[in-house]
Amino acid sequence: MADPHAQTGQDFSYWRTRPRAPLPGTRLGPVSALGPEGTKEFVFGVGPSAFRMFVVYCEGRINGYLNLCPHYSSPLNIEDDKFLSPDGDALMCRRHFALFRIEDGMCFSGACVGKALDRIPVTLRDGEIEITG
Ligand code: FES
Repeated sequence: MADPHAQTGQDFSYWRTRPRAPLPGTRLGPVSALGPEGTKEFVFGVGPSAFRMFVVYCEGRINGYLNLCPHYSSPLNIEDDKFLSPDGDALMCRRHFALFRIEDGMCFSGACVGKALDRIPVTLRDGEIEITG
């Protein structure tokens, strides 16, 4: 199967260079603890240098992203754990309403079309969300 991310030009290791990045193998808790949208933010550290990421669970697949919009490098959400567009079909930045595909974080509408959220590899292991290497 072709790598679905090859088209996006995304750097899948960028997240590991960020301050306070968690180690591969870090467990984020049970998938059942995700909010009603199937999304949840996880923060490592405090203050402006905190590492902020979120996961989205949709149609049996889990994806993880840095919570950093490629438009202005600010968090996507304003309300806790809210990352989906009103119709639930995309991720949405609440600053200027850019829309991103859930499956690969690619922006398809708004201020940063053609750029993508930075992916963080996550998987489900025994019902728990885990960051992988
Ligand atoms: S900061 Fe996200 S769309 Fe502008």
